[in-house]
Amino acid sequence: MSGMILLQNTAWLPEAASSIAPEVDSLFHFWTLVSAIIFIGVVGAMTFFVVRYRRRRRDEVPEPVQEKKVVELAWIVVPTILVLIVFAWGFRVYIKMYTAPPDAYEILVHGYQWYWEFEYPNGVKTTNELHVPAGQPVKLRMTSADVIHSFYVPAFRVKQDVLPDRYSALWFEATKPGEYTVFCTEYCGTQHAGMLAKVIVHPREEFEQWLESAGIPEDMPLAELGARLYREKACFSCHSIDGSRLVGPSFKGLYGSTRTFEDGTTAVADENYLRESILQPGAKIVQGYPNVMPASYASLSEREVAALIEFIKQQQ
Ligand code: CUA
Repeated sequence: MSGMILLQNTAWLPEAASSIAPEVDSLFHFWTLVSAIIFIGVVGAMTFFVVRYRRRRRDEVPEPVQEKKVVELAWIVVPTILVLIVFAWGFRVYIKMYTAPPDAYEILVHGYQWYWEFEYPNGVKTTNELHVPAGQPVKLRMTSADVIHSFYVPAFRVKQDVLPDRYSALWFEATKPGEYTVFCTEYCGTQHAGMLAKVIVHPREEFEQWLESAGIPEDMPLAELGARLYREKACFSCHSIDGSRLVGPSFKGLYGSTRTFEDGTTAVADENYLRESILQPGAKIVQGYPNVMPASYASLSEREVAALIEFIKQQQ
């Protein structure tokens, strides 16, 4: 919550940037206003009664109070009507919010400890950056590779749990080009609070251009490809390049250093060591670190592995 307030720079509602946001806000404002009026009414009446009917003499005995049907009916009927209004209103907004239009642009979302991966219809994948066109409904089909995460974009007023072994869905239509923050709102482990992503809303034509250019060209130099994979495969969520200690060892100064493993043996971190550690992360565990790197990197291509090694070599 505090992160959201800081980022959006307001203590009230964050910027509204989706087609559903104004409807959610109206409902929220209505209920806040009604609550304020009820609060003032209740506290006001209470204060008035305390003063008006206070005990004045030690031997004072209050007169018996007769019930008033009008008053009793009023406090039953008025709240019932208010609650029904909010129910009907909320139900309408809810249905709209969770029923994607059939022509929505579909993007796959994978939640991992602790990053988000997005896959577009043309095969392009991004990590922690969701690119979408403005003024077009976008449907997210979401699943998790490990634990329960929750996808929340405050500026769009949409939130949905992301579960392993099944799909959940979320849709929105972004109204304003710009950058908005995605929060994970289900506690999913140590880096939960850092599981942030950006939604980048492009004007429509610009989105098409972005999608065209986002594929990885064959002739990209290895080191450049490595830097890109470091971002896109979210290596950064466990391995720093500035020497700071995260879940896994930092890449800074890693190449050529002598590693000490859990069983007390040592090895110099050369190309073959790096290759093995990427493809079979459990083969050698550096002392003081948990064996938690997923085996999913085994699906990297030869060129991608070479690129990552090249990138790690440069972090001296
Ligand atoms: Cu993912 Cu919290």
